Amino acid sequence: MSKVTVVGAGNVGATCANVLAHADVCKEVVLIDINGNLAKGKALDIWQQAPVDGYSTRLSGGDDYALTANSDIVIITAGVPRKPGMSRDDLISTNAKIVVGVTQNILKYTKNPIIIVVSNPLDVMTYAAWKASGLNDKRVFGMAGILDTARYRAFLAEEIGCSPKDIQAMLMGGHGDTMVPLPRYTTVSGIPVTELVKKEKLDAIIERTKFGGGELVNLMGTSAWYAPGAAAAQMAISILRDENRIYPCCVRLNGQYKIKDIFVGAPVKLGKKGVQEIIKLRLKKDETELLNNSAAAVKEVMDAFDGMNLS
Ligand code: NAI
Ligand code: 2OP
Repeated sequence: MSKVTVVGAGNVGATCANVLAHADVCKEVVLIDINGNLAKGKALDIWQQAPVDGYSTRLSGGDDYALTANSDIVIITAGVPRKPGMSRDDLISTNAKIVVGVTQNILKYTKNPIIIVVSNPLDVMTYAAWKASGLNDKRVFGMAGILDTARYRAFLAEEIGCSPKDIQAMLMGGHGDTMVPLPRYTTVSGIPVTELVKKEKLDAIIERTKFGGGELVNLMGTSAWYAPGAAAAQMAISILRDENRIYPCCVRLNGQYKIKDIFVGAPVKLGKKGVQEIIKLRLKKDETELLNNSAAAVKEVMDAFDGMNLS
């Protein structure tokens, strides 16, 4: 049986731990936070939910990384979230130090974990964790695409008047305004979305998706957590069950799509080794251009991270 550590016991981390506990796929979930009592308290609260909801996952929490020893998967959600008016990239100066420090602490107690990064700016924080860890790039990747496609699927379900369960979608690129939704790869129970939604409406939904994170920040004064926490848990579940589910994840492209050494979203098979395969789609010229623009935007922030000389 497996052990998952979630670092950051704030909104996203606690939600992720809660969803994982309910899935009953691992023996133990450990919550870590610089605020040790917060992590301990939330872990205890989720554990006390077990008799009500009926799961066996044990939870513990605190600020001591010894608790994380021999984790199979570590999910990093530590860091500050956006406030209204901020872009995800504005978070780099604070979050880069946090993510590098967390990764170094994790590696003291677990030799070869799989690391799923959630902290923003997502693509660059995934790069930061990979660099600081020295791990194989199949074992360090980030969560964004499941969230972005979930928003897109939810908006489409509303428009079509159907269940979001019936909408399948793929999306590529960075987690930001340059993300690349792919209507050509969107279906509703096998029906191409373009047969059910008019172009102008589809374009409007794609635009809303690109700024979906900001919409929530403006409503709540901080960023979202229910869908993000569940999305990160879903990645861990595919790995723990060795299901090879295909999800859009932030991964290091190493020549795929003619992009090299950049962390961006692409379709990935997730199983017990982490990234089992990066799936290569036959993108059209305009889609390739959008992906290249998105990768270039991420690379600029990766270079800014390198300039910080943190790892
Ligand atoms: P939050 O403020 O509710 O929680 C963050 C937690 O991290 C706090 O409890 C804080 O004490 C803890 N923390 C800070 N420094 C730490 C350190 N050095 N070690 C351990 N814990 C530390 O924030 P929230 O809403 O949970 O967001 C967390 C991060 O996830 C943010 O960077 C946010 O932008 C990002 N995010 C990413 C998404 C994605 O799609 N990739 C979606 C939603 C949020
Ligand atoms: C989101 O998209 C802020 O990245 C976070 O909700």
